[in-house]
Amino acid sequence: MKNIIALGGSTSKKSINKALAVYAASQLKNVDLTVLDLNDFQLPLYSVDIELEEGMPSETKRLNAAFDKADGFVVSLAEHNGAYTAAFKNAFDWLSRINGKVWREKPVLLMATSPGARGGLTVLEIAAGRFPYMGAQIAGQFSLPSFFDNFKEEAVVEGELKADLFAQIDLFQKAIDL
Ligand SMILES: Cc1cc2nc3c(=O)[nH]c(=O)nc-3n(C[C@H](O)[C@H](O)[C@H](O)COP(=O)(O)O)c2cc1C
Repeated sequence: MKNIIALGGSTSKKSINKALAVYAASQLKNVDLTVLDLNDFQLPLYSVDIELEEGMPSETKRLNAAFDKADGFVVSLAEHNGAYTAAFKNAFDWLSRINGKVWREKPVLLMATSPGARGGLTVLEIAAGRFPYMGAQIAGQFSLPSFFDNFKEEAVVEGELKADLFAQIDLFQKAIDL
């Protein structure tokens, strides 16, 4: 069994990205799935001074330990003003101080969604450009536009988008099964 982390890049209690990440990860076969919620990690706002004066926060170490155990990551990024949410960037910055290969050279299914027509494509492209330098083997990529039209009752309902997503999930499944 492969250990897979599903993560929404958001701290919204009703995060649509968490919903998409959980939905996509739930399609995988023969995996132990851990759903991480950034709300469950009380990370201070990154500061070089905190790191120097207080060391690595225990909550950062706890999140890092979860990443250590993963054989792959299903991530859906929320987009705030064309970029990562502050919460995701903060967690990512802390993690990168322990291990620059945040994604551990493991397969990543990289996604984004938003209520708008671009579906978080801007942050998705930023991450797709950057994550490989941080140890991500991007095995699949998918943006779900107009979330509330295309995702209902915890599933993607639009046919072409669903087929595209399932093709990306299949690529990710093959990568973790290698
Ligand atoms: C401060 C802020 C900035 C936002 N900027 C964008 C944006 O640049 N592009 C976009 O598609 N949606 C934007 N949105 C809308 C988010 O996509 C929407 O809130 C979505 O639900 C966020 O994902 P989440 O539910 O997983 O947190 C923004 C929302 C907020 C609160």
